[in-house]
Amino acid sequence: MNNSAPRAALASVKPFRVMSVMQRAHELELQGKKIVHLEVGEPDFSTAQPIIDAGKAALDAGLTQYTAATGLEALRTKISERYLKQHGLTIAPERILITPGASGGLLLLAHLLVGQGDGILITDPAYPCVRNFIRLRDAMPQLVPVSRAQAYQPDVAALAQQRTPETRGVWLASPSNPTGTILERQRLQEVSDWTQREGLHLLVDEIYHGLHFVDELPSVLEVNDSAFVVNSFSKYFGMTGWRLGWIVVPEVAIETATTLAQNMYISASALAQYAALAAFEPATEEILNARKEEFRRRRDYMVKALSDIGFILPEEIAGAFYVYADCSAFSDDSEEFCRRMLEDHGVAMTPGTDFGETGAKRMLRISFTTSMAQLETAISRLRAALLPA
Ligand SMILES: Cc1ncc(COP(=O)(O)O)c(C=O)c1O
Repeated sequence: MNNSAPRAALASVKPFRVMSVMQRAHELELQGKKIVHLEVGEPDFSTAQPIIDAGKAALDAGLTQYTAATGLEALRTKISERYLKQHGLTIAPERILITPGASGGLLLLAHLLVGQGDGILITDPAYPCVRNFIRLRDAMPQLVPVSRAQAYQPDVAALAQQRTPETRGVWLASPSNPTGTILERQRLQEVSDWTQREGLHLLVDEIYHGLHFVDELPSVLEVNDSAFVVNSFSKYFGMTGWRLGWIVVPEVAIETATTLAQNMYISASALAQYAALAAFEPATEEILNARKEEFRRRRDYMVKALSDIGFILPEEIAGAFYVYADCSAFSDDSEEFCRRMLEDHGVAMTPGTDFGETGAKRMLRISFTTSMAQLETAISRLRAALLPA
């Protein structure tokens, strides 16, 4: 046996298909083809100028050392103030830990909450890293199929159906990647009540908060003060490459979470944290909200255009920047469909099989993280490819 080989359990951790789509799109571009990128999961805008300026000023001031493992006090305070302003919640800054992206937060919480052999209920479809992080703990992602009819979010009956004696927790996302759908207050409350009755922990990934197009988007903390929250500066705040996020943990978990942070990464990037202090300034918020309105405009355009072509979409895309589209009018194999649309028509999209299993072969994720002009090009190419002349 080769003693340098990765352990066998890692074979279940699969690469992202979106990465091979991006790689192939890049190869085609090198051959001179013009590709429209609808596969990318990050805002196309660069970081807002006040945040960049704050980052530069921090560098000039020599603020390049580690910070506390839990992050800058000033940043945790600003996040705490945001919970008060947006959700009417008093969250002590001590419960907020700054992490290297939501990814760092999810990994930390996987270590905090998940042990070998545990079952964690997650939706099918969901952001793929989540099930991989659970597998890395030698634990079991327990997939809860969710359909268009339930806005791709679980209710108690769906969760209860997949629950086993091994189940320890429920990990959800609202708004969700890839569906853009949210857990409305009542369902969130019911799910939360059920987890409390059943003695399960509840974690909600709220990374797309801020990039929502509905008036009301509750944080899970409004209905359950002992829930775990993951959030990030990547999406609404447009800071993907800075690698900065945060988690909110209940009082009882602060100490262990802090110890894990110290051991796992010492601190999140100091530069990113100093820069992010400017993310809450009114001038920045104005820029971010204008961008959100641009995402809304793109969403409205894509929903109408894709429906007209014959894709079946969620009833409402309430947040994030994705359209999770059923392509069964054209294909029952979304991987082959995405390959064909990329190779023959220059439109890059992500097959649903990146995100789940049930029915994933007829689904694809279309991101509207590119300009209106590019979206219009994509739509005219899809129309030409899929509709009779
Ligand atoms: C639902 C969800 N959670 C977490 C992440 C990771 O984000 P970050 O850049 O903050 O690590 C993503 C990134 O696309 C995501 O969609």
